[in-house]
Amino acid sequence: MEDLSPKPGDLEPIETASRDEIAALQLERMKWSLRHAYEGSGFYRARFDAHGVHPDDLHTLADLAKFPFTVKTDLRDTYPFGMFAVPRERLVRLHASSGTTGKPTVVGYTSRDIDTWADLVARSIRASGGRAGDIVHVAYGYGLFTGGLGAHYGAERLGCTVVPVSGGMTERQVTLIDDFRPRIIMVTPSYMLSILDGFQRAGLDPRASSLAVGIFGAEPWTNSMRLEIEQAFDMHAVDIYGLSEVMGPGVANECVETKDGLHLWEDHFYPEIIDPETGEVLPDGEMGELVFTTLTKEGLPIIRYRTRDLTRLLPGTARTMRRIEKITGRSDDMIILRGVNIFPTQIEEQILKCPGLAPHFQIELIREGRMDAMIVHTEATTAAASPEARAHEARALVHHIKSTLGVSAKAVVHAPGGAPRSEGKAKRVVDNRPRGG
Ligand code: DLL
Repeated sequence: MEDLSPKPGDLEPIETASRDEIAALQLERMKWSLRHAYEGSGFYRARFDAHGVHPDDLHTLADLAKFPFTVKTDLRDTYPFGMFAVPRERLVRLHASSGTTGKPTVVGYTSRDIDTWADLVARSIRASGGRAGDIVHVAYGYGLFTGGLGAHYGAERLGCTVVPVSGGMTERQVTLIDDFRPRIIMVTPSYMLSILDGFQRAGLDPRASSLAVGIFGAEPWTNSMRLEIEQAFDMHAVDIYGLSEVMGPGVANECVETKDGLHLWEDHFYPEIIDPETGEVLPDGEMGELVFTTLTKEGLPIIRYRTRDLTRLLPGTARTMRRIEKITGRSDDMIILRGVNIFPTQIEEQILKCPGLAPHFQIELIREGRMDAMIVHTEATTAAASPEARAHEARALVHHIKSTLGVSAKAVVHAPGGAPRSEGKAKRVVDNRPRGG
């Protein structure tokens, strides 16, 4: 694979600024953001007043801990426009998350917010090894989801030629990649695997494709999956993180030269890690729930937003801004099976240890008598498609899960093509346990 380390002069000055410079900028912007939220949004004013705090109480970055958290239900409770800090007429764009239950959460952007977002996604694509003149194939969904349009504006901002394919119609994705020869693809890692299938079905060698860099995010994925995709396509696979409440994609991104966790764009977002039980702020290096405060957002400033994503803060490497460790999972996706906490990424790692298994999977939860049970649905590679080979792989997977996670699972190894495919964010867990039982 190509060496894509940045050349001198490639980076913005803030990407190599000292920690003191970054902290000074953060403090100045945090004061602005708290005041803007308090003055512009009735929601924040009421929340701060009820908590007995005022923007003037912030003198240092650590003073942020005096302020109350914001959570997803706050957005639902103020649906649709109740949290915005500018008059609705100043918003040039809305996005929304579908939300599995109840109302979606709506987010809004002023034209300056859209501008900042484009800058940060451009920075993220550059950190991934992209540059002006590249063709960028965007297979994140376009629409209310922030993935497609977020990637799109950023790639344009960097000076790339964007192919706005959106998700789905896998055969057409493959044809367009083969014909247009993009250097960069932006897509969820699980949908990249469906595209890999598409290459194989079309009789095309993925390693011979034009793709040099994949910028993968919107769902948790493991370093084992990175290797799988990098080897399959002979390309760099880089992690991009973000969430609509905070902005969308491009809140943090890995640097292609290190691939050691995601650098947080700290000039626009202030991170904290908290103990999810007590809400106490934890020191850098400790594992906990990621919390964000936006420093420059106008439309929807977000103060101490609890993401439910679990990770730790690490010092900068390729950049001076801090990193988050690759996200293992969300507290929402955690499976508790007979007292053991399990994340789907841990199952992914065990599947990728089995050479006869393809990297597609879904976890089904069922009730057996009075006990919960977990069935891992996965599928055989064509080389291991015989019933004997499949039975062997199933036993191996059950063994790996038992010896690393300490739980007994069942494994069903379907024939090649038999496990569910993703066209966007993969649905990793299906809960078929009886309700209320
Ligand atoms: O998924 C934004 C996005 C689009 C990010 C495209 C990257 C690429 P939401 O739909 O609001 O926004 O979902 C946000 O997805 O809180 C995480 O739980 C998860 N997530 C996003 N990126 C990653 C990642 C977009 N790189 C939620 N690794 C977040 C793990 C991720 N989880």
